[in-house]
Amino acid sequence: MYYPDDLVEEVRSRNDIVDVISGYVRLQKKGASYFGLCPFHNEKSPSFSVSPTKQMYYCFGCGAGGNVFTFLMNYENDTFPEAVKVLADRAGINLPEIEYSEEMKKEADKKALLLEINKEAAKYFYYQLRAKQGQLGYQYFAKRQLSEETMKHFGLGYSNKFSDDLVQYLRKKGYQDDAIIQAGLAAGDERHGTHDKFFNRVMFPIQDINHRVIGFGGRVMGEGEPKYLNSPETVIFDKSRNLYGLNFARSSRRDHIILCEGYMDVISMHQAGFTQAVASLGTAFTSGQANLLHRFTDTVILSYDSDGAGTKAALRAIGILRENGITAKVLNLEPYKDPDEFIKNFGAEEFEERIKQAQNSFFFEIRILERDYNLQDPQEKTAFHRAIARKLCTFSEEVERENYIQAVAEKYNIGFESLRTMVNQYGSRQGLLKPLERPKSGIQKKVTTQDFVMRSQGLLLTWLVEDERIYPKIKKYISKEDFTEEPYGKAAGYLLPDLEKGICEPASIISLFEDEEEQRKIAEIFNTKLPPMETLSEREKALKDVVLAVKRNSYEVFTQRLAQDVNGLNRVIEGKKALEELAKTHISLE
Ligand code: GTP
Ligand code: MN
Repeated sequence: MYYPDDLVEEVRSRNDIVDVISGYVRLQKKGASYFGLCPFHNEKSPSFSVSPTKQMYYCFGCGAGGNVFTFLMNYENDTFPEAVKVLADRAGINLPEIEYSEEMKKEADKKALLLEINKEAAKYFYYQLRAKQGQLGYQYFAKRQLSEETMKHFGLGYSNKFSDDLVQYLRKKGYQDDAIIQAGLAAGDERHGTHDKFFNRVMFPIQDINHRVIGFGGRVMGEGEPKYLNSPETVIFDKSRNLYGLNFARSSRRDHIILCEGYMDVISMHQAGFTQAVASLGTAFTSGQANLLHRFTDTVILSYDSDGAGTKAALRAIGILRENGITAKVLNLEPYKDPDEFIKNFGAEEFEERIKQAQNSFFFEIRILERDYNLQDPQEKTAFHRAIARKLCTFSEEVERENYIQAVAEKYNIGFESLRTMVNQYGSRQGLLKPLERPKSGIQKKVTTQDFVMRSQGLLLTWLVEDERIYPKIKKYISKEDFTEEPYGKAAGYLLPDLEKGICEPASIISLFEDEEEQRKIAEIFNTKLPPMETLSEREKALKDVVLAVKRNSYEVFTQRLAQDVNGLNRVIEGKKALEELAKTHISLE
């Protein structure tokens, strides 16, 4: 945090969230909250809510949520200090020069140092590619039809055959061995000393969205294992929150981004004019990456390999994108397996044509589903139609669902009415509107114990915020340690002492989290809808169940931890006592 917490809090409290968001979204009052169309995903009916009492927003459609700061950060792409500045100006508050704590300064210095080393290394590899010893590398890229301009644009390079020349070079520049190792460029071992991580490979510098080199991918020239070697995760290289090529793709001015698997695919596409292409970093696509993409686009076109592994990865990515409010489409590059090959053979114009024809992810999912059934067999055919109907139930909006039913019926030659009847049957049986099933790829979400634990901790926090009568009734049983999952533990650490003082400002707690993903999660829990409860006794029972669930879990966690940690003993004893007492107690809400 750059500004003192209380100043941040003052800025926040002097900017009413309804006022601020009204400047961007048309809001209508409904009960205690305001509703509007969510600016973070495409929707036709409003599921974006702004609560004047909590001073928070939350979208029940895509899960976007936070306070005034996160709103500006997400809407305007502001950084946190920028958002503070805008809102301070708006409220007429003067901000001091930015204040860094010692620890932050150290952390920032460390990051700056590692970035600097990576930049030096990129320059070194770049130079090597053009030197005599780099000819092999240069020829390799040339053979793959990369132009000099492209190589330059992406800063491609070469790590030569010597296994310690980069270390030597960096040492000469004044960097310590441990810093070089922490930058991910070398490994240390007692017998051989510090040696280069990369040698005899063509090098792809990986840049963050601000064009800073944060790591490298290195490819063997020709055959060899591993084909690609990537920098390890470091303080500056988080593979789950960066995407190769996004530094360029962010300003491509297209209405979509193409997501593929390989660095070479990205480069090939950019070279052919498709500067909207990005790739994940040799690891599976993550929610953090979807989140990042959502800052720049609402539509992602997937271009994964058409083989089994690629299809599976695509199905997974579709689910993740959808959860993050992004519409996914799928590129069909048959008969080729990836964009690189396709463009080389069919050229850019044909590629553009395929982009236009990119298939809606729903139809892609159904096409994959179809493979599991023999449609010549009437029984299997029926089973296939049932599976389609179940999938159609995942559209919670009626108009959308009807449109899909119609489109699917046409495409697969199923009677519209009979398909609709089937969908409605499934829907009513399982309580339509809920996401029912994910694609068949082992990623179907079961309610695990872990989910249950998270949910009860989240629910309890929600409850504490929604109803100020709760805290005094349960404080005897619950402490912040009972929230064993992050970020709930941290949130409880702020919330419970506040409640003790009779303060309840959930929106201020959000500013205390720096990580966007965490901010979202916190906003989500503070906006979780409590299950509908008619009577007082229902509410009392539900509350007790939740408290018990939370307590029972923390008791188990501490019992397990006891094996390693003597201090856990007290907590276990205390937990056991509380559990016994709770089981006998009636928590009255009157
Ligand atoms: P080319 O074969 O050079 O065209 O590369 P490609 O990008 O098409 O490779 P491929 O489709 O085989 O792999 C896609 C991506 O997965 C690569 O860009 C790498 O990020 C990653 N990858 C591939 N092979 C390896 C490997 O052996 N180790 C690691 N860590 N990552 C790999
Ligand atoms: Mn390839």
